[in-house]
Amino acid sequence: MASLSQKIASDQAVIGLIGMGFIGLSLLEVFGDKGFPLVGYDLNTQRVEMLKRAEAYYNFMPVKKLHAWIEKKQFTPSSDPDILNSADVLIISVPTSLDHHRLPDLSSLKGAFTTAASHLKKGQLIILQSTTYPGTTEKEFLPILEARGLKVGKDFFLGYVPEISDPGNPDYSFTNVPRIVSGITPACRDLVEQLYKKIGCKVIPCPSTQVAEAAKILQNTYRLVNISLVNEMKIMFDRMGMDIWEVIEAASTKPFGFTPFYPGPGIGGDCIPVVPFYLSWKAQETDGPSSLIDLAGSINLSMPHYVVEKVTEALSARKKSLAGAKILMLGVSYKKDVNDLRESPSLRILTLLKEKKAEVFYHDPLVPVLDKLRYYPDLHLKSVELDYKKWGAYDAILIATDHSCYNWKEIVAHAALIIDTRNVTKGLADPEHKITKA
Ligand SMILES: NC(=O)c1ccc[n+]([C@@H]2O[C@H](COP(=O)([O-])OP(=O)(O)OC[C@H]3O[C@@H](n4cnc5c(N)ncnc54)[C@H](O)[C@@H]3O)[C@@H](O)[C@H]2O)c1
Repeated sequence: MASLSQKIASDQAVIGLIGMGFIGLSLLEVFGDKGFPLVGYDLNTQRVEMLKRAEAYYNFMPVKKLHAWIEKKQFTPSSDPDILNSADVLIISVPTSLDHHRLPDLSSLKGAFTTAASHLKKGQLIILQSTTYPGTTEKEFLPILEARGLKVGKDFFLGYVPEISDPGNPDYSFTNVPRIVSGITPACRDLVEQLYKKIGCKVIPCPSTQVAEAAKILQNTYRLVNISLVNEMKIMFDRMGMDIWEVIEAASTKPFGFTPFYPGPGIGGDCIPVVPFYLSWKAQETDGPSSLIDLAGSINLSMPHYVVEKVTEALSARKKSLAGAKILMLGVSYKKDVNDLRESPSLRILTLLKEKKAEVFYHDPLVPVLDKLRYYPDLHLKSVELDYKKWGAYDAILIATDHSCYNWKEIVAHAALIIDTRNVTKGLADPEHKITKA
């Protein structure tokens, strides 16, 4: 019988995926392009049905090719885990979640490894792709697999390859970003390396799964800390009468030792505002220190409050109260031109505005309805029509996400008041002093 290495070399290894989200499916697409047979399991039956109908759950995810492969029987997605029986490689790509106290919640990952364990067979390679704290693959998940009586590095192989992606950014595809590869044993890492090289990735071998996990979490923490720093500086400079965007523009002229980060209404997405807390939690076992992460996290969580304060101030300068004011938010997704609402600060801002008795409205071309949101059960809104002339009827327009569809000049021309968290009104004439940066 052919070994896994031989099956990889001949594009015949069956690639199985547990967790068919954006990340897992992006990877599957690359394997599919090389002709590998694919199977995918997700416990969300609705998502599986959407895939079968060629419907994307995020506007930036691939479905066309995957759907064509479903038709050709190269790819079988299912909500029945037994679809994984044929898999030679199992890639796990499930959410990295926090609980209500912002502590790591490994339940999705443990569930996925329990599924992997029940389909474990000799010669199989299991790869974790989800972000997690250093040591998780070896200390938490390897025992779940070895409980089946098979030995890692001999009977089966286990590796960790962190996901590095920038959703919606066409400059970076799966294969033009270097892939950090690691394994529990050298034999595990060799197989992971062979597999990722086979699909055209530049691989960066890492000494251990722990170092690979730590490298990914460092990348996310670096962004959390630096964006929180500029957000704090934004508040500081605003009180001194300066615009942080002008300060960053000037500072960025330094040709070495300075990387610009940009402020905003708070950081969203499923990585940067979540993953660093896995690290600060883990650090408690060795007495820290992790205070910088916690501080950056709390600055980030305070940003929606700051934005609401700026809306209140701008209204009161016009002798209006926030209570009863009609506020139109532009953009509710966490990032430009994507429809991903995970951890979006816009949702928190809308909730805070509502609590202060403002009448809230929103427009987002990619999110027609806000309803049945896990952490925001009281938000039930429909995107208003894109009609700049009508937008003059709102007491304030709050720019939360800078989607490409907007004509900022038109918006400024018709609005009564603008609160701009993204600097999109830079350089626009404002003779009536309608614009406040926040
Ligand atoms: N989205 C990004 O831009 C990005 C970037 C880098 C890293 N990551 C990391 O990649 C991982 C996946 O992210 P994503 O955005 O694809 O997540 P996602 O939430 O879009 O998809 C995860 C999928 O896993 C499924 N799932 C959850 N538990 C399961 C289980 N026990 N068995 C089977 N399916 C299960 C869910 O139903 C969902 O469809 C996370 O660890 C995330 O931190 C994401």
